[in-house]
Amino acid sequence: MNQNHPDTNSSAAPCVMTIFGATGDLTKRKLIPALCNLAQENLLSTQFAIVGFAANDFDTESFRKSLAENIPKFAALPIDPKLLDWMIQRTYYVKGDFLDSEAYKRLEQQIAEADKKHNTLGNRLFYLAVAPRFFSSIVKMLGQCCLSKEEENRWSRVIVEKPFGHDLASAKQLNQELKQVLTEKQIYRIDHYLGKETVQNVMVFRFSNNIIEPLWNRNYVDHVQITAAETVGVEHRGGFYETAGALRDMVPNHLFQLFTMTAMEPPISFDADEVRNKQAEVLHAIQPLDPEDVLTNTVRGQYGSGTIDGQRVIGYRGEPDVAPDSNTETFVALKLLIDNWRWAGVPFYLRTGKRLARRVTEIVIQFRRTPFVLFRNTTVRNLETNRLVIHIQPEEGISLSFGAKVPGSVMKLGLVNMDFDYCTYFGTEHSTGYERLLRDCMAGDATLFQRADMVEAGWSVIQPILDLWHALPPRGFPNYAAGSWGPVEAEELLEKDGRSWHRYGEDELDKRAHIASPEKTRMAG
Ligand code: BG6
Repeated sequence: MNQNHPDTNSSAAPCVMTIFGATGDLTKRKLIPALCNLAQENLLSTQFAIVGFAANDFDTESFRKSLAENIPKFAALPIDPKLLDWMIQRTYYVKGDFLDSEAYKRLEQQIAEADKKHNTLGNRLFYLAVAPRFFSSIVKMLGQCCLSKEEENRWSRVIVEKPFGHDLASAKQLNQELKQVLTEKQIYRIDHYLGKETVQNVMVFRFSNNIIEPLWNRNYVDHVQITAAETVGVEHRGGFYETAGALRDMVPNHLFQLFTMTAMEPPISFDADEVRNKQAEVLHAIQPLDPEDVLTNTVRGQYGSGTIDGQRVIGYRGEPDVAPDSNTETFVALKLLIDNWRWAGVPFYLRTGKRLARRVTEIVIQFRRTPFVLFRNTTVRNLETNRLVIHIQPEEGISLSFGAKVPGSVMKLGLVNMDFDYCTYFGTEHSTGYERLLRDCMAGDATLFQRADMVEAGWSVIQPILDLWHALPPRGFPNYAAGSWGPVEAEELLEKDGRSWHRYGEDELDKRAHIASPEKTRMAG
């Protein structure tokens, strides 16, 4: 198989997959269920084995037992008992400290045994589902015991979880440390947003439809909004979140994935480096923010207590492991401009936050007005503008709104929606979002993984914000109530440009009202 053009419909290459942090949440909730889903669909090689590696007190037998209990709990669909047994019989456990060289000897031996028994052709995949402080040390250890070494026809790949660095300097340092042991081609920096069907579909939508791409530029687009709103708070992750905040946690990774997919130039092929070159180019083209821009084009917020879905919830400062006077932001909104031919002058507004009014991730392309209002001798004065919304989650689909005549003898226009809903069209997918990414890695396709330069380019964009926010601690936190749409300054960010955030809930109501009665369509007149 050509490494750059893996056959996306074939099963993944044989390998032993070692999971560092095998007893953690990610392994049982996402990774193992994803592997089961792949096996169920015959997309996993039958020459496959898993080695769990962690410090917890398990051996192969007890680890298999815990998997047998957990897999059915976390799988979206009932698991075929034969498949469960198949998976468990090829799972092994090595107990050890991530920094103990003796433990790596045991690991090496276990991998060799599993390789022989399951005929995995010497291929090794290492998944670092561990705290970021271990990334470098584990890779160094893999280098020392030669597990990272590739030979002809035997590959060795490492998947690194987020967060990849804490700022630009630490991301650069981490890249450097990993590259002392691995080549760039061996490193798969994962971002689970790229495992979402709807995110992958952004590229397909843009580049496989001839009617879309000609409009996708400053001549037709007024502005773009990217929202990733959550209703959950920090849950049990207060300790981590205190050191991260919304900006680091969501922007240089998840939001920038959506951003680059939306703004990138068409690649000449879907080859990993072609696609990633285009994504990197967009990040490099973002207008650098000087301190004045940071003050005017960014907003930070922190939630206070409030009501979500009829339930009273506490403010961020009262959450477990959070300082009572914490200044960590749980909301961020930004306005970015891209200095290139396609997007010059078109603002991209990004926002994300916890404890917001509704869970919604979407990309809104707001088109420009028509050049003049044709309906001069009618009551129509202002035309609503066309809007394309790519719904990433929880709704998955695409809607295009456009003006239509409301039936009746008076000329009235209304905004109506044309909707494509993934679930209605294709049925519900029961995937964890990790299936595609794991299989791509096993097939040597890095298209949906971050390259070193992309990660660094992303951090370069937000570094000036981190610096200024650090120098000027926020005043007046908490500044939004749980269950709202964030601080008032986020509304003002768009209002001062004569724009407003897309109100997902309200438009949906409009749409349903319109289906029930055309009179209720949003009027322009
Ligand atoms: C994670 C962040 O990477 O993504 C979390 O650390 C966030 O804070 C999560 O809640 C959001 O992912 P999703 O798939 O629920 O949108």
